[in-house]
Amino acid sequence: MFDKYLNFVRGVSVNRVGKLGVVLTTSSFVTFIVFELARITGILTNAYLGLITYLLFPLLFIIGLILIPIGWYQLKRQTQKPTRELLKERFGDAETSGGFFGSKVFVSITIFTLVNILFLSMAGTRMLAFMDEPVFCGTACHSVMNPEWVVYQQSPHARVRCVDCHVGEGADALLNSKLNGMWQMISVTFDLLERPIPTPVRQLRPARETCEKCHWPQKFYGSRLKTIARYDKGETSTAKYTTLNLKIDPGGGSSGHSGGIHWHVAPSNEVRYASVDDEREEMIWVEVRRPDGSYHRYVNKRLPTAPQSEVEGRALDCVDCHNRATHIYETSHDAVDTRLRQKALPRDLPFIKREGLAALQVNYPDRDAAMKGIENHLRSFYSQNYPDISAAQSSTIDSAIAVLRAAYNRNIHPEMHIRWGTYASHIGHKGGRGCFRCHTQDLVDADQRSIADDCALCHSILAYGSAEPYEYLLPSDDNPPEWPMQQYLRDEFLNYVRE
Ligand code: HEC
Ligand code: HEC
Ligand code: HEC
Ligand code: HEC
Ligand code: HEC
Repeated sequence: MFDKYLNFVRGVSVNRVGKLGVVLTTSSFVTFIVFELARITGILTNAYLGLITYLLFPLLFIIGLILIPIGWYQLKRQTQKPTRELLKERFGDAETSGGFFGSKVFVSITIFTLVNILFLSMAGTRMLAFMDEPVFCGTACHSVMNPEWVVYQQSPHARVRCVDCHVGEGADALLNSKLNGMWQMISVTFDLLERPIPTPVRQLRPARETCEKCHWPQKFYGSRLKTIARYDKGETSTAKYTTLNLKIDPGGGSSGHSGGIHWHVAPSNEVRYASVDDEREEMIWVEVRRPDGSYHRYVNKRLPTAPQSEVEGRALDCVDCHNRATHIYETSHDAVDTRLRQKALPRDLPFIKREGLAALQVNYPDRDAAMKGIENHLRSFYSQNYPDISAAQSSTIDSAIAVLRAAYNRNIHPEMHIRWGTYASHIGHKGGRGCFRCHTQDLVDADQRSIADDCALCHSILAYGSAEPYEYLLPSDDNPPEWPMQQYLRDEFLNYVRE
């Protein structure tokens, strides 16, 4: 078999071009097999390996395959002899006798062609599968996808593949995404890409075909208790708690609740909206169809009405609220508060909340400057104001510096112009955005009625910047002035739970 191969190879490598072709095909084929074996057995695990194995080697292989007939064609032009005669010359009589189609050369060519097709389709399928892996999406165009990759790995979806949200199922989706991917490669290569990558991502598949493969509205029962700890800027960075009972129910069904946060995406309801420049920030109108046939249209009274009511709307789906389902960037306050709560930042360092925040919020020109800036800020603050602590607890200060640097690296990506707040979340209502894009007095129907925005519509409130996480459920001895309000909120919660 090996002899036969050598013979055949000698026969087809007619000149320099042909020889190069043979060397390329053979070596890329062999290294592909070696790399693939090393990958399967776990000897090699580098993320870039797939790029080499599934893109580079097959490419070299194909180039080699093309060079071989080019060499042959050159030989024919030089010698001006017919193919039959050349075959005889190169392979000898024994190999070419019996007519071309019955000849041994023909059999060899057929076998090699089949092997090539088999190899290329194997490499091709492996490559398509590899291109669906998050490491490929996240690292192939390193600087560009690095922010998404970094935050993704720490998100609740770290085990969900990028393509499950970005591509969905079906041949159509696959083709579209590959075409889109090609355009992305071109724009990265020629630096045509916008930085930061603009949102909203309008070509995302409808959530029905992505998110709802794993989550579905009927599944959200009842409510979810959430306690948010915020730390003040005083010397001891004292904790203040806000506890919400988020009413995530879609309503109806077996839960008994009349309607909650996922009411918008319950199968029988439809909410559509149009926004200024299709940015999904400032609403022009919002309309609702309920299963009982009722229809409501709310129009933004702050915008001039005439041309804008004609804008085509968009059906609200999961990503209108969960725009940061997996690419979750923290606010600077959240970044510090979360780490204080996890005890990664030590609260016994005086003013650590205030100073940590100040060190993070500086608009550093690049990553190196930030790493130095954060260190200098903390060191000089403690050495100037607390020389004792600075000397006695230098390792505590070191670890605080490391934690703040990591918080910076997670959230800020100067190469992609991503800074604090570049990608804001629509969950909640910080700064009047999120839910309050629609739940605002500015959007009114024909009777001047606006979409509800009372504080207990979406969540019960059990503590609000309080010393205790469940402050409003606890008895009070001293009857503070806000006591009636607290009792009202407590009863609202208890009634909701009893319902
Ligand atoms: C749970 C679903 C989900 C997964 C998994 C996911 N994404 Fe996304 N991604 C989204 C949504 C939703 C948006 C749209 C945000 C918007 O329109 O504001 C988005 C937006 C993006 C953007 C635009 C910039 C931005 O941050 O909004 C990029 C780039 C991106 N994703 C890349 C990736 C990569 C790379 C991976 C895998 C490492 C990935 N995504 C995994 C849901 C997902
Ligand atoms: C391939 C399955 C899959 C897909 C697709 C998917 N998710 Fe998830 N999602 C998960 C898993 C698994 C979790 C983690 C559950 C856990 O940690 O308990 C999760 C968690 C969540 C959470 C809760 C996060 C938290 O803080 O606990 C939200 C919100 C969410 N997904 C929204 C979405 C949205 C929006 C989309 C579409 C853009 C989506 N998911 C697509 C599997 C998926
Ligand atoms: C109107 C805004 C809105 C829409 C639309 C929406 N969600 Fe949510 N969702 C929320 C809010 C608010 C929460 C609670 C946030 C939290 O827990 O921090 C939530 C919580 C969740 C959770 C966590 C539930 C749990 O048990 O903790 C999942 C999963 C989820 N949503 C998935 C989805 C999916 C899938 C869709 C689309 C079918 C969707 N959401 C549509 C606002 C929305
Ligand atoms: C695109 C506009 C829009 C956005 C964004 C939006 N909502 Fe709504 N929401 C509506 C409309 C419209 C109604 C129904 C108003 C009516 O009664 O006619 C509604 C109703 C509700 C209801 C009451 C359901 C019922 O029983 O009638 C809750 C709870 C709710 N929204 C929570 C939220 C939360 C939480 C967010 C943010 C995470 C949010 N909404 C974001 C448009 C929106
Ligand atoms: C349309 C629904 C909706 C309405 C109306 C609403 N909220 Fe919220 N609120 C939310 C959601 C959703 C969150 C985010 C919870 C999370 O972090 O996951 C939130 C978060 C909060 C937080 C925590 C902020 C933080 O992160 O520190 C406070 C405090 C709060 N709401 C108070 C109020 C008050 C007071 C009102 C009445 C003026 C109100 N909310 C009305 C939906 C609503």
